Amino acid sequence: MRSHYCGAINESNVDQEVTLCGWVHRRRDHGGVIFLDLRDRDGLAQIVVDPDTPESFSAAERVRSEYVVKITGRVRRRPAGTENKDLATGMIEVLCKQLEILNAAATPPFPLDEYVDVGEDIRLKYRFMDLRRPEMLNKLRFRSKVTSYIRNFLDGQGFMDVETPILTRATPEGARDYLVPSRTHPGNFFALPQSPQLFKQMLMVSGVDRYYQIAKCFRDEDLRADRQPEFTQVDVECSFIDENTLTTLMEQMIREMFHDLLNVDLPVFPRLTYAEGMRLYGSDKPDLRIPLQMVDVADLVSGVDFKVFSGPANDAKGRVVALRLPKGAELSRKQIDDYTKFVGIYGAKGLAYIKVNDLTQGAEGLQSPIVKFLGDDIAMQIMARVEAENGDIVFFGADKAKIVNEAIGALRIKLGEDLKLYTCKWAPLWVVDFPMFEEDGQGGLTAIHHPFTSPSCTPEELEAAPEKALSRAYDMVLNGTELGGGSIRIHDGAMQKTVFRILGIEDEEAQTKFGFLLDALKFGCPPHGGLAFGLDRLVMLLTGSRSIREVIAFPKTQSATCMLTQAPGEVDAKQLKELSIRVRQPEAEAKK
Ligand code: AMO
Ligand code: AMP
Repeated sequence: MRSHYCGAINESNVDQEVTLCGWVHRRRDHGGVIFLDLRDRDGLAQIVVDPDTPESFSAAERVRSEYVVKITGRVRRRPAGTENKDLATGMIEVLCKQLEILNAAATPPFPLDEYVDVGEDIRLKYRFMDLRRPEMLNKLRFRSKVTSYIRNFLDGQGFMDVETPILTRATPEGARDYLVPSRTHPGNFFALPQSPQLFKQMLMVSGVDRYYQIAKCFRDEDLRADRQPEFTQVDVECSFIDENTLTTLMEQMIREMFHDLLNVDLPVFPRLTYAEGMRLYGSDKPDLRIPLQMVDVADLVSGVDFKVFSGPANDAKGRVVALRLPKGAELSRKQIDDYTKFVGIYGAKGLAYIKVNDLTQGAEGLQSPIVKFLGDDIAMQIMARVEAENGDIVFFGADKAKIVNEAIGALRIKLGEDLKLYTCKWAPLWVVDFPMFEEDGQGGLTAIHHPFTSPSCTPEELEAAPEKALSRAYDMVLNGTELGGGSIRIHDGAMQKTVFRILGIEDEEAQTKFGFLLDALKFGCPPHGGLAFGLDRLVMLLTGSRSIREVIAFPKTQSATCMLTQAPGEVDAKQLKELSIRVRQPEAEAKK
């Protein structure tokens, strides 16, 4: 129907006849002439309709915002003084010969021809309109570039794209499963994959050697800005590979992508152990753009009278840290109160601080509600350890280590954002040497990565002290977001059973749930490992978006519903009957 995209015509087309199709972005009636800004996915073109073409002119009088039209006309230079340098097509306009209205449009739920702050619910309900906005369309276009970049890179490295099932069994990645009832097997359910983890491992047993897939994954978990119930992974697995080769290859892919798509040269990714990440940043995905680090001071305060500090200092699970903020003594009382409230979200019971006014005066030069509890000597020793300078503020966290890490870790990020402390735009890193397990809060252990991750010790050492064992897992972190994670896998049946046992999965249960994996490990499973990137998170960071919802065409809300289709929805009784399902009404539940 068209000869050009609106955004693609320029001075080289002057005097040519073009046919454009698109939406009426804006209509301006200058009494006598009508200007239409015609929009398609490539941009805007200015169309001039004058009364010399009476039919077109009367059609132009009828069009409204977002009408779909087709115009044919001649490209001409805009009269001197009326050019628009901000617009790619701003030097030219199209003098309309023929205007055809292809479709009318109701008044848009929000204007598209000017920036207005529209609530996300409305945007999601009318997502098809929201996506007409150039910034949204550009994000989709960019996402498409990223996936084709990834495909090209991995194809070039000998990876094979293999699809794996969506209707499958539960794959334990630590979230709740989405279940799908089986009609042919009443009372039985498929689970949607939380990741293709076990299938990609099977493919290694099959000899595929290098696999990738841009795979949909499903997790029923609490949602946040960087989490969706349905999201996309760039999933990768290789045989006969170690962690060094694999992480180097993945780093190369990301570095080349940043170079080619953003013209950004990322630094070589530093490697940080999980233990160091926790010690310095309270996090296994530290944002290294922020120069602040935590400093342990438990040994200095273990003997003080101030129970808030000495309690955790003498508790094996406790932690006492200081966080020095250079020039922070300028913070007002109100700001400090706000930060105290902020750390409260993470369970911290307070936020002690010392303002460093003048170190030459010793403890006299410190301003703080707690120096009197610590004693001058200890206070000065802390100042020396954190290398405090005049004008700084030093914050403290004292509690169970988990709370301190979360609260002071989050404070570090918040201070970085609020006070613009970033030292660089991009801070990638690898986090390595994760522990195999963590406490599950019910007296048992749970896998930090997943139960198929290889420990870096023998099965005997693992069984003797599982809580001390480290794994061969690695995460790629960028600007405080976990972009991807993976591991070298267990390829030995005995080791796999040991890990299951430590997780409280006895042999019989392991056989029922993962019999196919244990079988596969028996029939010549190569050493293998891999990783999966969160594609949505990658595109979110690359496009500077605030949420992954901005880079997903049809995302779900924070409460996991689709505003557009109103999913999930009720189904009729016949369908339920076929599935042998009876729904317990929530009201009936309440009455009981
Ligand atoms: P993991 O669970 O770490 O590993 O997931 C890999 C990456 O997927 C992204 N991601 C998410 N993105 C959006 N919404 C979510 N709900 C969500 N959950 C995870 C993250 C994360 O780093 N099978 C393993 C990978 C492997 O071992 O090879 C796995 O799924 O960016
Ligand atoms: P309090 O004696 O409870 O009034 O606390 C004195 C100071 O210590 C206040 O500045 C509190 O904000 C701070 N504080 C209290 N509990 C903690 C904690 N667990 N970690 C760090 N600071 C705390």
